[in-house]
Amino acid sequence: MGVFLLPSPSFLGALLFALSTLWLFPDFANAGITRHYKFDIKLKNVTRLCHTKSIVTVNGQFPGPRIIAREGDRVVVKVVNHVQNNVTIHWHGVRQLQSGWADGPAYVTQCPIQTGQTYVYNFTIVGQRGTLFWHAHISWLRSTIYGPLVILPKRNIAYPFAQPYKEVPIIFGEWWNVDTEAVISQALQTGGGPNVSDSYTINGLPGLLYNCSAKDTFKLKVKPGKTYLLRLINAALNDELFFSIANHTFTVVEADAVYVKPFHTDTLLITPGQTTNILLKAKPHFPNATFLMAARPYVTGLGTFDNSSTAGILEYEPPSVSSSSTISIKKLPLFKPTLPPLNDTSMATNFTKRFRSLANAQFPANVPQTVNKRFFFTVGLGSNPCPQNQTCQGPNGTKFAASVNNISFLMPTTALLQAHFFGRSNGVYTTDFPNNPLVPFNYTGTPPNNTLVSNGTKVVQLPFNTSVELVMQDTSILGAESHPLHLHGFNFFVVGQGFGNFDSKKDPAKFNLVDPVERNTVGVPSGGWVAIRFLADNPGVWFMHCHLEVHTSWGLKMAWVVQDGKLPNQKLPPPPSDLPKC
Ligand code: C2O
Repeated sequence: MGVFLLPSPSFLGALLFALSTLWLFPDFANAGITRHYKFDIKLKNVTRLCHTKSIVTVNGQFPGPRIIAREGDRVVVKVVNHVQNNVTIHWHGVRQLQSGWADGPAYVTQCPIQTGQTYVYNFTIVGQRGTLFWHAHISWLRSTIYGPLVILPKRNIAYPFAQPYKEVPIIFGEWWNVDTEAVISQALQTGGGPNVSDSYTINGLPGLLYNCSAKDTFKLKVKPGKTYLLRLINAALNDELFFSIANHTFTVVEADAVYVKPFHTDTLLITPGQTTNILLKAKPHFPNATFLMAARPYVTGLGTFDNSSTAGILEYEPPSVSSSSTISIKKLPLFKPTLPPLNDTSMATNFTKRFRSLANAQFPANVPQTVNKRFFFTVGLGSNPCPQNQTCQGPNGTKFAASVNNISFLMPTTALLQAHFFGRSNGVYTTDFPNNPLVPFNYTGTPPNNTLVSNGTKVVQLPFNTSVELVMQDTSILGAESHPLHLHGFNFFVVGQGFGNFDSKKDPAKFNLVDPVERNTVGVPSGGWVAIRFLADNPGVWFMHCHLEVHTSWGLKMAWVVQDGKLPNQKLPPPPSDLPKC
């Protein structure tokens, strides 16, 4: 895949404006348009690192097609499944206001789309603009089924920063030479850690630092003096990533489709499930050099991991060749960035703390100032006993598990949202998910001897419009580790974070209730805690899980059931007629 450049919003805006007479009817014009897409799920042979394998793709593309819409638009995606695997697609970060049936996590909001079946995802993008992404939400299929979701501002609405010359999605992924469905099913069988990836990728390409991959290198061509908006997306399965471009700095302007107060940095951290928009200002003159952009993991856990680096090339357009002196790009010196050490938690912490909401009149930070319900969830690893007549490869001969408040979530065999909507939760889920750990302990101290989790399909039920404060606390069980927690159906405000055990007496006094960052995925610091607030104003069933896919597979997930409100616009509508059945 080559560089794909988006036409700038102002160009699109001008074009649409010129083509349209809708401006005569401003209300109608502001309502947005409907954008139709078709996703054919099919197999495709793809070669990376000199290994060819058949992968599940959307429309034969890897990464998948870009979805582009404006704030206020309706997006309609017809998904047709032509493969043997069950699939679902999740529109990661889209708030899905009253459109929970289109959210996509398998067995949470829908049964999977089976072979030969079709499902139409239909949702409107309300009050969001920036970069999100879409990905498969079943098993590990998102290793190959993912793509950018670009939300432009409404027509004639400018960015809160200078209009960039070009916009370029940069989507990080992870490549395995083997079938990822086999990797995770084998790991769940043996109880051990799954095999790690063979490379990271930028827009599906591993890059020149890997064997056999010089030709599979993403290249960004820039003109001196111009500003580029890079839409960074971490679609990797199991790894947070540091990213840097040699000899360049950038300005962070948006995270998870919410503008932030701009700040400068030369290195950034992006967890799976997060998106970050950055402005890259090209050097004013042709620099007589090319530059590497590179990403490699930030790792805190004890398990094995892929410690390799993906790289792309930043290439400047040479000055126009008037004379015979053609500049050979290939002969120019190539500068490489220095990335932080793999376990650089202080860099991770300092970087994360710099994110702040714009919190101005046009883009207010509507942080809940009062709280109706407080929750304290531990997140971390644990174990399940090894079944009799089997030997297991997890810790001390057990099976790896992961949990929230020591409950490892068991996937139901029918979708939670249907069970909720039709009042048939009996035998599907229970509403007794604990608000606090049942057995408190020193979460970040010496871990307890008993690491066993309990298993169940438990949810938290919330009345409509509950104002929620949730503290998520990492545990040191089987190793402290950073966990990027993702909440479906809402953005939340990150009001506080720290290391060690959360202190409910002292820490809340330090919360930022003025301009905290608003996002959909936050890293729970390794050996620390993070506090978030959100308003449960979206009726439905909303998944929350670690976006490290291995931890989700082990059970680090739960769901919130948000009940209907009294008014018609506070209720979840009935499911579409083509909603897949289990
Ligand atoms: Cu991007 Cu539930 O996930």
